[in-house]
Amino acid sequence: MYALIPAAGSGSRLGAGLAKQYLPVAGEPMLRHTARALLACAQLRLLAVVVQPDDAQADACLAGLAPSRRLRVARCGASTRAASVRGGLRWLLEQGADPADWVLVHDAARCCITPQAVQRLIGACSGDLVGGLLALPVADTLKRADGAPPRVGATLARDGLWQAQTPQMFRIGELLRALERALDPARDGAQAAITDEASAMESLGMRPLLVAGDAANFKVTLPGDLELAQAVLLARRQSACGDEETKHA
Ligand code: CTP
Ligand code: MG
Repeated sequence: MYALIPAAGSGSRLGAGLAKQYLPVAGEPMLRHTARALLACAQLRLLAVVVQPDDAQADACLAGLAPSRRLRVARCGASTRAASVRGGLRWLLEQGADPADWVLVHDAARCCITPQAVQRLIGACSGDLVGGLLALPVADTLKRADGAPPRVGATLARDGLWQAQTPQMFRIGELLRALERALDPARDGAQAAITDEASAMESLGMRPLLVAGDAANFKVTLPGDLELAQAVLLARRQSACGDEETKHA
C-alpha cells in the first residue's frame, strides 16, 4: 500500500500569501498534521508528498516525522491537482511500486483526517475490484443560485447525493491510466471535469465505492476554515491529554 499527498497548490482561495499546506494550524504546518495521520497507517510502505519542483519548504516541514524510506518528497507537482497526482503516480512506479499496488491519494488541505477514517476506507476497499473514496451524504438542502446578487433559481433534490472527500483508494496502474487519458490534450474539455481521482476512474466506466467519511475531514479552502481546523485539532489534542492523565491517575 502506497500513499500520495498532492501538496503542490498555491492556496489562492485562502489568499494567505503562503501556500496553505505550510500555514500553521495548532502549532504545526497543515501538511505535517496530514502526513502524520497517514503515516499512522501501518500498511503504508511509502508516503510520497508531491510538491512543486522549486518548493523550498517541504523538507523542513516534514523533518523527523518518519524514516526516509517511508516518507519522501517528490518534486513533480504540476499546474493542476490531477497533473500533480499523475506525476506522483509515475514517480511511485519509478521507485519500484507495482501497478497493481493500491494507492491512497489524500489532499494536504484535509489536515483533520484521522487514522481511523483511513482504516475504514482501506477495510471497505481492499477486497473491492475498483476501489473507492471517503464521502459524506449531503445533509443540507441544496439551492442553485441565479443572477447577481444571487437569488434562489431552484431547489435541487439531494437524494443520493454525496460530497466527495479524500483519501481515495485505487490501484496505481488503473488510476494512472485514467488520469493520463483524462489529461490527454487531444481530449479537449475532459480535464475540467476531473476534480478528484474517482472522477478520472468514472470516466473509464468504473464505479468507485462510497465509504462514510467524517464532517471533520473537510478541505481547508477559505479563510474561516483554518480556525475550524485549528479548533478540531486542538480539541483532539486536549482529549488525548485527558486520556493520558486518566491512565496515570
Ligand atoms: N494541489 C496540487 N497541485 C496543484 C493544485 C493543487 O498538488 N496544481 C493540491 C493542493 O496542494 C491541495 C489539494 O491538491 O492539497 C487540493 O487542492 P485545493 O484545495 O484546490 O488547493 P489549492 O489548489 O492550493 O487551493 P486554491 O484552489 O484555492 O488555489
Ligand atoms: Mg485548487
